[in-house]
Amino acid sequence: MQKTLLQWYEANGRHELPWRNTTDIYHIYLSEIMLQQTQVNRVRDEYYPQFLAKFPTLKSLGEAPLEEVLSAWSGLGYYSRARNLHKTAQLTQGKLPSEYKELLKLPGIGSYTASAICSFGHHQGITVVDTNIARVIKRFYALLDANAKNIDTHAAQLLNHKESRAHNLALMDLGSLLCLPKNPKCDICPLREQCRGKEEPELYTQTKKTKYESLELFYGIYIRNNKIALTQTEGSMYKGMLELPSVEPLEEDFLRSFKHSYTKYRLTVNLYHLEEIEKKCIWIAMDELHAAPISSLVKKALL
Ligand code: ADE
Repeated sequence: MQKTLLQWYEANGRHELPWRNTTDIYHIYLSEIMLQQTQVNRVRDEYYPQFLAKFPTLKSLGEAPLEEVLSAWSGLGYYSRARNLHKTAQLTQGKLPSEYKELLKLPGIGSYTASAICSFGHHQGITVVDTNIARVIKRFYALLDANAKNIDTHAAQLLNHKESRAHNLALMDLGSLLCLPKNPKCDICPLREQCRGKEEPELYTQTKKTKYESLELFYGIYIRNNKIALTQTEGSMYKGMLELPSVEPLEEDFLRSFKHSYTKYRLTVNLYHLEEIEKKCIWIAMDELHAAPISSLVKKALL
């Protein structure tokens, strides 16, 4: 069965992904952090190559000012990922440890990322369980209400110790190409014969609905001498980023509003023209905005 899986991977796997064709541990680590909350194609085509062009080594990342790292992350969201990358680069002085337990001690590296680095980067015989692999495991062993530990135990049972890296990548691709949450392609799955979940595959996919929260935000736009007034963010989520100055809901000087989604939030953003400004501001030239640490929301408002 492990052999069948590897044969399927050989013929159908996403071998061309750049982070699968490198032995540079920093590149592998960076890709895993980016891929946590961002789609594969966006990471591959936009963010991964341009981030590496700016920060080609972990050492160069650690030596760069945080602001530059955040601006390279601009648009990717979940900016604590960039802050943790920067912190980890500084703490390790450019060299990541290769032991799972040591990796876990670093900011922003949890059990998934540590195991991915160990498996994909160092070819260690270790199980890797991301959401795609978890779904494959739950179906294959027909696990109802399994917790993470239970899924890990079953994944370990299935692990191919001789070819662990390819095995983990194969399960990952199986999960994202065939063993889909809805309408999985069981008829062409290499594991269909031994799969205990194939009769009712959707029984094993969690359908915890994300609860969306609607929020309305009010921002002011104040431009003088072709420079825009931005403020340092206060909340921890966007720490180190620049945002538009917030204003009280105003009656006058309304410019426009737009919708924006961020994690579980469905935002309505209202923009107002400001005639004066009291808050302490950071002035950014309009033609330098693209290089400033601003979120997608601010980009949408201004660019
Ligand atoms: N290859 C290695 N890690 C990956 C990931 N997290 N997503 C997609 N492909 C990968």
